Amino acid sequence: MCGIIGYIGEENAAPILLNGLKKMEYRGYDSAGIATLSDDGILLLKDKGKISEIDQKVNFLDLKGKIGIAHTRWATHGGVTYENAHPHVSCGLEVATIHNGIIENHHQLRKKLMDECHNFNSDTDSEIIAHLLERYYKESGKVKKALLQTVQTLKGTFAFQAIFKHEPNIIVGARKDAPLVIGLGKNGNFLASDIISFIDHTDKVMFLDNHEIVVMRGKRMNVYTFNGERIVKEITQVAWEAKETSKEAFAHYTVKEIHEQPKTLRTAMHQNSKKVLDFICAIKEAEQIYITACGTSYHAGLIFRNLLARIAKVRSHISVSSEFSQNVELIDEDTLVIALSQSGETADVLESVSLAKEQGAKVFSILNAEGSSLSRESQMNLFFNCGPEIGVAATKSFTGQLAVIYVLIFSLVDDSKMSNKLFDIPRNVEKVLETEKNIIKIAEKYKDDSDLYFIGRSIHFPIALEGALKLKELSYNHAEGMAGGELKHGTLALIEEGKPVIVLNPKDHTYDEMLNNISEMKARGAKIIGVSNRPNGMYDDFIQIPKVDELLYPIVEVIPLQLLAYHTAVLRQRNPDYPRNLAKSVTVT
Ligand code: F6R
Repeated sequence: MCGIIGYIGEENAAPILLNGLKKMEYRGYDSAGIATLSDDGILLLKDKGKISEIDQKVNFLDLKGKIGIAHTRWATHGGVTYENAHPHVSCGLEVATIHNGIIENHHQLRKKLMDECHNFNSDTDSEIIAHLLERYYKESGKVKKALLQTVQTLKGTFAFQAIFKHEPNIIVGARKDAPLVIGLGKNGNFLASDIISFIDHTDKVMFLDNHEIVVMRGKRMNVYTFNGERIVKEITQVAWEAKETSKEAFAHYTVKEIHEQPKTLRTAMHQNSKKVLDFICAIKEAEQIYITACGTSYHAGLIFRNLLARIAKVRSHISVSSEFSQNVELIDEDTLVIALSQSGETADVLESVSLAKEQGAKVFSILNAEGSSLSRESQMNLFFNCGPEIGVAATKSFTGQLAVIYVLIFSLVDDSKMSNKLFDIPRNVEKVLETEKNIIKIAEKYKDDSDLYFIGRSIHFPIALEGALKLKELSYNHAEGMAGGELKHGTLALIEEGKPVIVLNPKDHTYDEMLNNISEMKARGAKIIGVSNRPNGMYDDFIQIPKVDELLYPIVEVIPLQLLAYHTAVLRQRNPDYPRNLAKSVTVT
């Protein structure tokens, strides 16, 4: 969840690190800090708040030094305070560290170190790392040895980095179940949780794997296992372009990413046919299929299951990743587990995949982030390549996932006619984006309603869930997504005079039953916002979407819901890029 970046090179570290932090702010934005190594030892500036606010207060660029580490925080242990912001330092400013993850044995270690007269300044689990490194470094005077002893002492998950007052030319890092990647630049090297934090400087990277440490000394760097064995890492060139991380002319990343979808959909649809073939062979051969994903990716998974059953006549099961362990007794070597994830770093997804692998299952993934932990845990990956998604709410990654899912389904049933119709979808998404003004009007009308309902049937039900999730997380208005048929089983009791209900109602096999639902709700005073290709007198407000093949409506109808959530948030003066309490890449379980 937290974003971390380190730099060692020929340039001043502070501006590079500050820029890197800004790029990663989506990972966590309750506090931030930078520590550099200068001729005067370790220099440190940090505070709570957003990076730009902190920078105005402390002026990060005052920090001298060509080596430094920086952190943007999403609090897990310890409240949002100056003391709990990273970097953390050991006694006497000997070592500074930044950490992403959770140290499970920090209570025991803290007690032990306090008995040895270490003074702690924060309530965080992370501070322990600075004190441990200092302790072990003092014993041997050797950085690598101190680092190995530290990682062998820690329990939990971590990607951390450290600088040492008495080692003027070194940054070290370690990785266990949290991402860490090395960037190889011309004038310096990087170590970060996210490639985008340094992509302005280099696209050549080396991914650290779990249970690996790195010692970066000047221009050189050595990677070792936690047992101290040296490893040679491969250099990968990543495809993302630096410009993709700018907001361009848009007010927020979220709306920029919503508008990017015609382009990102086109990219996602262009899959390597050999890889698609391998993927569908695995689907055909598997005795059973489990889909695992969280949040928005889970909603894409629900559509995947619907299409597998309806179109390909393939039975599959789906579970949110945090509940996946309930199925573990049923998973075996004839099981194919398909993981869906934008980031490829979601801890719950990774845990489910690891459980599945322990049972001997095959794991295939559909994801965005190249080189992510999930991509390296899976036997096969299909990437939807929608570029970095910076807005915390998933938008273009959702439709990117759907595009890959459709490619798989239509290949599975060898339906080239449907594949051609799929290729037409980006054009239809463009048409929906052109109706934004109407959606702003609707957002203005309903922005102060404290409860909104989203209703859909069949393939539209996951979109109802997704529409409600987007509205909740961006505007903080309460919203619920419901299956049309379920209304009478309880939730109809909530419908009263003036309640807004958004109905996903394209003219398909669900249309007539939805009209019945609409009548029931209207009879109780609901205000109906129809999302359909066909106007109907029953709608109080209407969001027109183009007519497309009935299977493809999910991609087209989710766009206005994303826009509605975005504009409601803006009208309610929320920052849609950084919703409260949330962070992108949920790397804790
Ligand atoms: C919602 C959202 C989250 C993510 C979820 C899974 O807008 O962004 O619900 O979809 O945390 O993340 P990934 O797809 O990265 O595994």
